Amino acid sequence: MRWLIVGHGKITANFIEAARGIGHEIVAVAGRNVERVSIYANKNEIEKSGEDLLLLSEGVDAAYIATPHTEHCNGAITLLDNGVPVLCEKPLAVNLRQVEQMVNAAKESNTFLMEAMWTRHLPIYEEIIDWIKKGLIGEPKLIDASLGFNAPYEPESRLWNPQLAGGSLLDVGIYPLTLAHLIYENNPENISALAELSPDGVDAHVSMSLQYQNSALAKLGSAINLSLPNSAFILGESGFIEIPDFWCAQKAFVSQGSAKRESLSPHDINGFEYQIREVDRCLSERLMQSPKVSWECSLSMMQLMDNIRSQIGVIYPVDREGHDGV
Ligand SMILES: NC(=O)c1ccc[n+]([C@@H]2O[C@H](COP(=O)([O-])OP(=O)(O)OC[C@H]3O[C@@H](n4cnc5c(N)ncnc54)[C@H](OP(=O)(O)O)[C@@H]3O)[C@@H](O)[C@H]2O)c1
Repeated sequence: MRWLIVGHGKITANFIEAARGIGHEIVAVAGRNVERVSIYANKNEIEKSGEDLLLLSEGVDAAYIATPHTEHCNGAITLLDNGVPVLCEKPLAVNLRQVEQMVNAAKESNTFLMEAMWTRHLPIYEEIIDWIKKGLIGEPKLIDASLGFNAPYEPESRLWNPQLAGGSLLDVGIYPLTLAHLIYENNPENISALAELSPDGVDAHVSMSLQYQNSALAKLGSAINLSLPNSAFILGESGFIEIPDFWCAQKAFVSQGSAKRESLSPHDINGFEYQIREVDRCLSERLMQSPKVSWECSLSMMQLMDNIRSQIGVIYPVDREGHDGV
C-alpha cells in the first residue's frame, strides 16, 4: 500500500517502521508548517510533503492521521469526503459528536475509516479470548487494569493542554476501557469515576469503577502524573489471566490454583503491523469498516469517555463549539 501520513510527531516513527517493515510505502507527509514537515520528509526519505491534504493524497491508497486528538475530526472528514480511506489514531476524536460526524462522512462517501486502536489487533488477544472461551478461568468477574506514566507538567503540550484535549482519559484511559469492552463484549450498565484534575482542568489521574452484564466488574485507571502498574488482570471464579503491558502485549499468563501457564506472541515488528495489515485486508475486500475496530466500537468508547468526563468535570473548549458541551 502507498500511504500519506498526516502529522509528524512521536508516534509516526512506529507507524513508518511497521509499514515499511511489511513492504508498504510512505509516499507523502502533511503538516501545518511547510518547513518543519519538509525537514521531517527529508529525514525519513518521504518523497512529498506540504500542508495540502488533498494534493498530497493524490495516488495514495490510504492516510494515517497522527495529529493531536482535536485535529483528527477535520482531517479525517476532509480526506473521507474525497474518497481517501483513513486510519486515524486513537481516540478517534474528542467527543461523540465528532465521532458521529466522522462515521457519517465515511458512510456518505463509501470510504473506509478505522480508529488506530492497535491493541485490538494484537495476536496474543486471540489466545486470551480462547482461554476464556475454553473456561480456563471460569466466567470473568473482574478486570483490573491501569495505564499511566509520570509526564512532566508542561501546560502547552498535547498531554496537558485543554485546547488540545489533554488529560489521561483520552490519551491512555481508552486502553483499559478497550480491554474491558474486548473481554466483556458489551457496554457497562453503571459507571462511577473520580479524578485528580490539573490546574487547567484536564484529568491528571482517573479512577473508574464499571459494572457490566451479570454484575461483572472492572476497576480501571489512567494517569499522566503517576506511573501505574500498566498490567491487566482478568479474574474468574476458577483462575485468572495476567497481561503485562496489556496495551502492547506480547505475553500473557493463565493461573488455575498453583498451576501457571504462559503464552508468548512476540510482535513481528513493533505491534503496529497488525492494524496496518488489517487496513490492507479490509481495502482489498472493499470493506468500509473493520470487524476488529468497528465504528460501533469507536462510538461506544467515545460515548463512555463523554460520560466519564461529565462525571469528573472535564470539558474542553472544542466541546463547546456549536454545542452545549459533553
Ligand atoms: N497508538 C499509540 O500507541 C499512540 C501513542 C502515542 C500517541 N498516539 C496518538 O497519536 C496522536 C499524536 O500523538 P503524538 O504523541 O505523536 O503527538 P506529538 O508528538 O505532539 O505530534 C503531534 C503532531 O501533530 C502536528 N500538529 C498539527 N496540528 C497541531 C496542533 N494544533 N497542535 C500541536 N500539534 C499539531 C504537530 O506538528 P507541528 O507542531 O510541526 O505542526 C506534530 O507533527 C494522538 O492522537 C495520540 O493519542 C497513539
